[in-house]
Amino acid sequence: MNALYALFVVILLLLVAWIGIGTVNLHILFGIVLPYLAFAIFVLGFFYRIIKWAGSPVPFRIPATCGQQKSLPWIKNSKLDNPHNAFWTIIRMALEILTFRSLFRSTRAELRDDQRIAYGDTKWLWAGALAFHWTFLIIILRHYRFFAEPVPGFVLFLQNIDGLFQVGLPVVYITDAVIVLAATYLFIRRVFIPQVRYISLFADYFPLFLIGGIAVTGILMRYFTKVDVSAVKELTLGWINFNPVAPEGIGIMFYLHLFLVSVLFAYFPFSKLMHMGGIFLSPARNLANNNRARRHVNPWNYDVKTHTYEEYEDEFRDVMKEAGMPLEKE
Ligand code: HEM
Repeated sequence: MNALYALFVVILLLLVAWIGIGTVNLHILFGIVLPYLAFAIFVLGFFYRIIKWAGSPVPFRIPATCGQQKSLPWIKNSKLDNPHNAFWTIIRMALEILTFRSLFRSTRAELRDDQRIAYGDTKWLWAGALAFHWTFLIIILRHYRFFAEPVPGFVLFLQNIDGLFQVGLPVVYITDAVIVLAATYLFIRRVFIPQVRYISLFADYFPLFLIGGIAVTGILMRYFTKVDVSAVKELTLGWINFNPVAPEGIGIMFYLHLFLVSVLFAYFPFSKLMHMGGIFLSPARNLANNNRARRHVNPWNYDVKTHTYEEYEDEFRDVMKEAGMPLEKE
């Protein structure tokens, strides 16, 4: 049901843009007002959540570790899996963010019919997730060509690599095929694996359909319905120069694409997509484990009122002596 609701909402969004542009001609609303609004919500919401997370106290040094901690010089420590300084913490973090290393090494458990537990790996999930995130990033970087004149070298480089298998014109991008396949795989996995389906919410399906919708409308626009790229560029350069115009004749598919992108941006700070920023603030990942080398005192500790044996004896010496109890000081 959650998947159906999410699909329904994305279809509804497409219908709203379709009616808004196709019949009511709200080009200024869909081409200027909503994109600006969505971008403002994205930036403010994103920073608000990051600042809130950054301000939460982390009184304990709690890195997640999977190897020998650095201690005595003759005990070999695992630098990467139990980083003891900033350098190795950054390396481990970079590998996590760029290659999803912990997902690669993760295991899943399954209770078989004969009541025995079987362990498997998560390599398919790892490959699907990695493909999804990397293609998303490359596509967004490639889109920079709409926002810069002249188009920067790194965008041309990405376009060349991505279009390596030149199949006809326009050049077919590898990332376009991969993002659709990866999103489909991630969706099918959620629906067909009972345990994953059980824990999947509307908030899990919705971003998947939304991004899928953005990719499909983009692909339709590039390879089938076609779009006037110079008109698009007039619009985007207008946005960034704060002198927006909504040129006629860009075509409805572009507005469907743009509206879904606007919804994604506005929804982003309120959703699980915030893991993009949150991963950097995860104390289990961003702290070095130097617990044996340095003493960390919980800053929340209040001054504990102690009563030493010495003080105790001073207080009760007379009574203790009377009762014949041994004393340390006469
Ligand atoms: C989350 C952000 C976005 C994603 C994931 C996305 C995704 C895509 C994809 C997969 C394509 C197919 C062709 C290609 O890969 O280049 C595409 C095409 C396109 N997108 Fe986006 N898009 C996004 C944002 C935008 C924005 C903000 C604009 C506004 C200018 C835009 C305008 C276009 C245009 C004009 C095309 C057709 C390109 C062509 O004909 O070569 N997209 N988009």
